[in-house]
Order: sequence, then structure tokens, then C-alpha cells
Amino acid sequence: MQSLFGLTPEQQSLQEIATRFATDKIRPAAPGLDERAEFPAALIKEAHTLGLINLTLPVECGGSGLSIFDGCLVIEEIAWGCSGFATSMVANDLALTPIRIGGTSEQRKRFVESLATGGLLASFCLTEPGAGSDAAGLQTTVEDGGDCWIITGAKQWITNAGHAAQFTVFATIDRTKKHKGICCVVVPRSAPGITVGHHENKMGQRCSDTCSVVFDKVRVPKDHMIGAPGEGFKIAMQTLDASRPMTAAIAVGIARAALEHAIGYAKERKQFGVPISSFQAIQFMLADMATAVESSRLLTWKSALMLDEGKVASIESSMAKRMSADTAMSVTTDAVQIFGGYGYTKDYPVEKLMRDAKLLQIYEGTSQIQRIVIARELLR
Ligand code: CAA
Repeated sequence: MQSLFGLTPEQQSLQEIATRFATDKIRPAAPGLDERAEFPAALIKEAHTLGLINLTLPVECGGSGLSIFDGCLVIEEIAWGCSGFATSMVANDLALTPIRIGGTSEQRKRFVESLATGGLLASFCLTEPGAGSDAAGLQTTVEDGGDCWIITGAKQWITNAGHAAQFTVFATIDRTKKHKGICCVVVPRSAPGITVGHHENKMGQRCSDTCSVVFDKVRVPKDHMIGAPGEGFKIAMQTLDASRPMTAAIAVGIARAALEHAIGYAKERKQFGVPISSFQAIQFMLADMATAVESSRLLTWKSALMLDEGKVASIESSMAKRMSADTAMSVTTDAVQIFGGYGYTKDYPVEKLMRDAKLLQIYEGTSQIQRIVIARELLR
């Protein structure tokens, strides 16, 4: 088993590449991208050239072939740079993972390899205006059109949608069957009948592209269905299990950045004639923040290692996502507190981190949904 307390030389150099990219490229661009709510298309292309995107997709599928653990190492660094950027990256893995999990080798080649090698983006289309936490309640339909599947419905909060070349769409073939009627279908952006909405004007993670997508009787060939009709829900859940450690790593990256800024500021800022770091009130806050970051990372690493060993890790992935998201929110809030009035302005980096952190408690399953998954497993 990978030691939790020491990284291999290969992992250290992978981490260094990601830290350098985050330091040299992402951090300088992040405030402007946030201000303008601008998608970092050029930087994403650079990340692709460095092998920092499609991290966990196998090499034969055009990905970087990293384990989920190694993917988490990279993503923490990228999110330390800017979590909106990291979300754009993880969302691509999220969109292509259902095809890796449920697709045939021919489908993997056609829908994953061609996209990943070309540095193109894809979107995971599960959520709908009326079906967020209740994923099995989705209303988008997939009908048998004889020689094709016909998809009709609306998707909401779809990451990367404005820049995606392909959508992985979850739709029901029979609403009365609930989750057992859900199918997974690959839809190229070029198919007639697709309308992508505007880039949502979000509170945080403003550079990540989030749009609605409407499918109006969109036709795709029969071999675009991943798995058998009705297998889509399980494919979606397995995909989320695999993705949640990476999302947890985004949260750890945000929290670590906030902690570092808070330590630096506490040592510089003087009140009552001394640095505020000499006050126990600040020391205790920093100690709690550091402990929360460390324990969130350990849970994230554990869930990633379990998945890499082929174990079922629904409970651990949900624990990692829940804890890391809540840590990101509390640590960034405390960082703003340590900065005081300055922290509440856009002149200092911690207000952005606090806004960015909030999304972690909402997307890829809210903190409440993670608790449901954990409790159900405990009580099974
Ligand atoms: N792996 C495999 N199968 C699973 C599973 C898993 N992790 N979880 C559930 N299943 C199976 C169950 O075993 C069950 O199968 P059977 O019918 O054969 O028994 C079936 O799926 C239905 O399971 P549930 O009864 O538990 O389903 P539910 O309707 O009660 O919902 C839920 C469960 C956990 C709440 C689920 O709806 C859920 O995860 N909701 C949150 C959705 C979510 O995370 N959305 C985020 C979208 S992606 C996003 O935000 C990313 C982005 O763009 C950045």
C-alpha cells in the first residue's frame, strides 16, 4: 500500500510539475479570470500539453494514466492555484469516466481517446432544473427512434458546457422505472437540436464554465449508448464514487492556500505592538485550521487508495468529499477572520478562496447528500 506519510520520487516530481504550473501560470491569472468570469481556455490547453488534464484516464484512452491517488496530488496543487481551474479539469475526467466504466473498447476509443488526445473538453450531464440531489428523478428522456436514440430535456449547472465537444447525458427511457430506467448516452456537441445557455454569473469559481444545456429531439446513433438501457444510474453513481476524492482534493487545495495566507498575514500584522500570531486566540485558530486540512487530506488519500486497489469506496469517498468541503468553508472563513477588514476586500486573496470554497459544499453531491450516503452504508 502507498505510504500515507511519504511520496515516491515520481510522485514528488509530478507534484512539483503541478505546483510550478499553479505558481507560474494559474495564480497570476486567477484574479483577472475571477473578475471577468472568464474561462481559461488557453491555460487549459497548456495544462493538456503538460499532461495535467484527463489525469485518471488510461494512457490507451489518451489520458495521463495516473492512479486516483496521483490525480489527487496534482489536483490539490492546481486548486491551490485556482479551484475554478481545477474544477474545469476534474469535470473532464468526470464526463469521460462513465465511458471508461461502462463503455465497450470500441466506444472508449471513439468517445474518450479521440477527445482526450485532441485536448477537447466534455461535460457530465446529470443534473436538471428539477433534479439535483434527487438524481434518479431526472426527466430528460431517451426514446427509441428505430435507427437512433432521440434525447429531449434540459440539463442545469453543467460544467464546461460552453466549451464541450461532447456531452455524457443521463436520460430516462421509462420514467415509471425510476433509477432502473436511466440510460447513459454520448451526444456530440455538433448534433442538431442542442442549445447551450450562457456562462452562469457565479459567486465563486467564476472562471469555471457552468451552463444549462437543452436537448430538443437530438438524434444520436444507436451505438452511442453506454451500457445497456437502464444501467445509466449505476454508471453515474460509480463515476461519482471515483470522482469524489478528486473533488475533495480541490477542497484541500483551497483550504491549504487559505491557511498559508493566514499564517503569513498573522506573522506580519501587528496589533497592540506585536504580531497577531503571538496571540493565543490566533494560534488556536491556525492550529485548528491546519489540523482540519491535514485530516481532510488523509481521508481524501485513503478513499483514493481504496479505489486504486479496486475496492468499493462509496462511504470513504463521501466522507472525504463531505469533510474536505466543510473544511474548505471553515478554514477560508477563519482566514478571512484573521485578515479582519482587509480579508473582506478584493485586495487580498482570502475573500476569493471563501467564495470558491462554498461551491464545494454544493456540487458533486451536497454535504447533506454525502451524509445520506455515509449513513445508509452505516445502517445497511
Ligand atoms: N455504486 C453502485 N451502485 C449504486 C451506488 C454506487 N455508489 N449508489 C447507489 N447505487 C445503486 C443502488 O444499489 C440501487 O441499486 P438497486 O436498485 O439494484 O438496488 C440504485 O443504485 C439506487 O440507489 P438508491 O436507492 O440509493 O438511490 P436514490 O434515488 O435513493 O439516490 C443518492 C441515492 C445517493 C441520493 C443519489 O441520488 C445521489 O448521489 N445524488 C446526488 C447527485 C450528485 O452528486 N449530483 C452531482 C452532479 S455532478 C456535478 O455536480 C459535477 C459538476 O458539474 C462539477
